Amino acid sequence: MRDSVYDGFIEKLRAASDIVNIISEYVPLKKRGRNYWGCCPFHHEKTPSFSVTPDKGFFYCFGCQAGGNVFNFLMRVENLDFPEVVKLLANKLGIPLPEKEKSARDRQMEREMANLYHANETARDFFHSCLVNTSYGKDAREYLAARGITAQTIETFKLGYSPTAWDKLSTALTARGLQPDVLVKAGLAVKRSSGEGVYDRFRGRIMFPIADVHGRVVGFGGRVLDASQPKYLNTPETPVFNKRQLLYGYDLANQFIRQSGKAVVVEGYMDLIALQSNGIMNAVASLGTAFTLDQARKLVRSRATEIYFAYDSDAAGQEATVRALSTVKSLGLNVRVIAIPDGKDPDEFVRRHGVEAFNSLLDTSQGLLEYRVRCAIESSDYSGLDGKVAVTIDESAIRAEIRKYIAQEKKDKNVNGGKNINISSLSQRPGQRTVVAERQIIRLMFEDNSVIPYVQAQLSDDDIQGRQRRIIIKLIIDAYNMGKSLIPDVFTLTLPEEAANELSNIMVMDLEVGDIARMVDDLIKAIRLARLKVLLEEHSLRAHELERMGDSNFLQELAESQRIQDEISKLRLS
Ligand code: UTP
Ligand code: MN
Repeated sequence: MRDSVYDGFIEKLRAASDIVNIISEYVPLKKRGRNYWGCCPFHHEKTPSFSVTPDKGFFYCFGCQAGGNVFNFLMRVENLDFPEVVKLLANKLGIPLPEKEKSARDRQMEREMANLYHANETARDFFHSCLVNTSYGKDAREYLAARGITAQTIETFKLGYSPTAWDKLSTALTARGLQPDVLVKAGLAVKRSSGEGVYDRFRGRIMFPIADVHGRVVGFGGRVLDASQPKYLNTPETPVFNKRQLLYGYDLANQFIRQSGKAVVVEGYMDLIALQSNGIMNAVASLGTAFTLDQARKLVRSRATEIYFAYDSDAAGQEATVRALSTVKSLGLNVRVIAIPDGKDPDEFVRRHGVEAFNSLLDTSQGLLEYRVRCAIESSDYSGLDGKVAVTIDESAIRAEIRKYIAQEKKDKNVNGGKNINISSLSQRPGQRTVVAERQIIRLMFEDNSVIPYVQAQLSDDDIQGRQRRIIIKLIIDAYNMGKSLIPDVFTLTLPEEAANELSNIMVMDLEVGDIARMVDDLIKAIRLARLKVLLEEHSLRAHELERMGDSNFLQELAESQRIQDEISKLRLS
C-alpha cells in the first residue's frame, strides 16, 4: 500500500539512480548535445531514436513513443511489476528496503545474508590475524615477502592465511557464537561425510578476501604456497558469492573508474594487487572465469567507457581476451588490448619492469583489429625452412581477418544505428533479442544433442520467427530423428545457401555454455514470449481496425487478444 514512508523511499531511489547508467546496462548510448541516444529496446530499429535526458531523469523513444522514468524503463525491459522494480533498483543501488515493504521471505533472506556477511567478515579477520600475528603464518609471510608484497599491501587487501589444521577456523568462529551450518552455507566449512561436525574448506592457503562493491566480504580465493593443485581454491557459489558477477578489487577501484572513465581488467588476484598497489587504482580482476556480461555491466555502472584487457599472453589468455572483447563490445564500450611482452602476466611484468613500463603499455594498447591481426600472425611459426611460405599464408590470413572484422563492424553498425538502411523492408523482422535467442537455441542443439527432442516438444514451427532458422531447426530435428550425423560443417552442406550462412554465423558466435538445461528453458520461454507478443500485436491491431470500421467482429479479435495476453502473463510467471 502507498504511504508516506513508501513514497519517500521511492523518491530516494529515484534521486539516487542515474538513469543514463542504468539504461546503459541494456542499451549502448552515445551523448549528443544534452541527451544520450541509442536504439530503442522496445521496438526494432536501426537508427537511434531512443533518447535519455539525464537532468530530467526521463527516456523517450521518438519511434514508438515509449517513455517514462527509470522505474518505467526497468518495468518494461525486465518485464517486472512496480514493487518488483523497486526491489531490483534498491538492490542495484545498495539501498535497504523500508521494513514495511519486506515480505516474510525478504526478511528471512535478509537475515540469512547478514549471517553470511558476518561469517565472511569474521573469517577475514581470523585469517588476517593468523597471517600477521601468529606463528602459523610464518611461511606465508615469507612467501609474500619473496613476491614483493609489503606489509602495507597485506593491510590494504586484508590478506590472510588459513592454518593447515582441519578445523582452526571452524573452532574459532563457533567459539564466537557462529553456527556451523552458517559456516557451511558461507562456503567456509564443509560437513564431514562421516560423523558429526564440520571441517575448514581452506587450509594452508594464502587468503584473498573478495568484497562486493559495497565493501562487504562475500568470499575468498586461497592460494597454496607450493606447486600443489589446485593452485587456487575459491568460495563455492553461495547466496552472496557469484563468481560471474563479482570483480576482485572492484570495491577499491569503483571511484577511480568513475573518475577516469577507464577500467583495466586482469585475470588474477596477484595481478590486481600488483597494479593497485602500484597506483593503477582503476584495475579489477575477473576471478579466473571468462569475463561475463554481468561484470561488463558493473563497469558500465561505474561510467567506464573504455576497457583495457591485460590478460595473460598465452593461448588461453588470448582466447579469453577475444571472448571478453565481444562481451564488452556488445555493450557499446571501447576496447583496448594490452599486449604484455615475453609471455608474462601483469604481476610479473610490473615486478620486472616497473609500473611506468606498464603505463606505457596502456598508452600503446591495441584496438580490436590490430589485436586480431597480431594474434593471426603470432599463431604461425616463422622459424625453419618454410618461413617464407608461412608469411605468405599469413598475409591472406590477415586479409581474411580484416574482411571478417569489417563485416562484423558493418553488422554492429547496423544494430547500433547505421543510416543507409531501408526501414520498411525490416519492419517484419524479429527483434534483435529474439534473433539471438533463436540462434542460441540452435547452437545448444549442436552442443548437446539431447536438447533436440526437448526443443521439438516445446516449440512449434511457428514459434521461430526467422525463416532461415526455422529451416535449420526443422532439418536438425529431422536428421536427429533419422539418426543422422549432426556435425555442423557437414550439416551445412545439406542446407540452402542462406540457411547455411546463418548456421555458420550461429556456430562462430560467442556462447558460454553453463547450465545447459536452464539455458534451454530460458531460451524457449523467451522465444515463445516473443512470438506471443507478435501475435498480440497483430490481433490488437486487427481489433482496432475492425472497431474503427464499425465491424462487431472486433469483439472476437479483442477476446483473442485477451487470451494471448493471459498466456503471456502465465508464461512470464512460470
Ligand atoms: P593464474 O594461474 O594465472 O594465477 O590464474 P595468478 O593469478 O597469476 O597467480 P600466481 O601469480 O601464480 O600466484 C589466474 C586466476 O585464475 C583463477 C584465480 O582467480 C587466479 O588469480 N584460478 C586459477 C582459480 O580460480 N583456480 C586455479 O586453480 C587457478
Ligand atoms: Mn601470476
